[in-house]
Amino acid sequence: MATIRCMSDLPGQPNDAESPESAIWPRVSELLAKSQLLRAATSGGTANVYVYEKNGRKYLVKSFAKHNFFMRWIFGRSTIGNEWRVLKALKEAEIPCVPQGFALLEDNTLIMEFIGGMQLGGKLSDPIKNNIKISFFKELMMLMKKCHLAGFAHGDFRRANILVSEDGRPWVIDWATATYCPPGTSKWHFLRRAINRQQQLSDLYSLVKIIDDYYPELITEEERRASRPNWLLRLGRYLRRTFYRHGIKKWFGRTKHAKLSKQGGAPNA
Ligand SMILES: Nc1ncnc2c1ncn2[C@@H]1O[C@H](COP(=O)(O)OP(=O)(O)O)[C@@H](O)[C@H]1O
Ligand SMILES: [Mg+2]
Repeated sequence: MATIRCMSDLPGQPNDAESPESAIWPRVSELLAKSQLLRAATSGGTANVYVYEKNGRKYLVKSFAKHNFFMRWIFGRSTIGNEWRVLKALKEAEIPCVPQGFALLEDNTLIMEFIGGMQLGGKLSDPIKNNIKISFFKELMMLMKKCHLAGFAHGDFRRANILVSEDGRPWVIDWATATYCPPGTSKWHFLRRAINRQQQLSDLYSLVKIIDDYYPELITEEERRASRPNWLLRLGRYLRRTFYRHGIKKWFGRTKHAKLSKQGGAPNA
């Protein structure tokens, strides 16, 4: 069996043999072979996403195991490792409506809680056709503020990373680029604190833009003022659009899975 680090390492976690926190997971190759591919990586820098079922329960698996050596080590280890640490910290901070992380396998594969529902992007992005309740956005804004107060910044607060659960509540996924600076973080960590502050601004800016499409009256003057992008945020968004989306992402190409899915459906692992 592969060595795993899981939530049961934390104090206060349940420790019965059946709980996902303390479950023994198979090796990554075996796990992926038994999983259903949900979404192939869109570039070398993003993970393949699978659904794994065990004892009638679904798990979401994000994995860089099928990427080439370079991407697995450069992106895989850092982004998956970061998401794992942030999910653990979110759980410890008792932030609701974020998936629980269950295990990090072989430093390239993350197992987390599967959230049933739909992305706010895609089919649900049309505000006219999709009557998403005002309470959804109120709760989403409160959730974001709660995260920020606790020191978290998501950094990629797009519609695609917001899920509408089956009971109509907002869930925030994809914490791979998030930062965590809890209150009391030393002033010596000035770079981390600056990135965290900038990401919080970016979160607010993105969320205000999203809510504006549905219920603009929900945004207070103060939120509108606070969400105004500074030159750094503008520059960041420009660089991301120009160099990342149209440059690096294409340059690194697609993974084996992405190519397969483009040809008409990737097989399971
Ligand atoms: N915990 C989850 N529960 C259900 N679906 C998820 C979960 N996490 C991710 N997904 C699905 O997988 C897709 C890609 O995952 P995401 O974490 O956003 O990775 P990426 O960095 O590639 O955008 C999401 O858009 C969503 O459809
Ligand atoms: Mg995403």
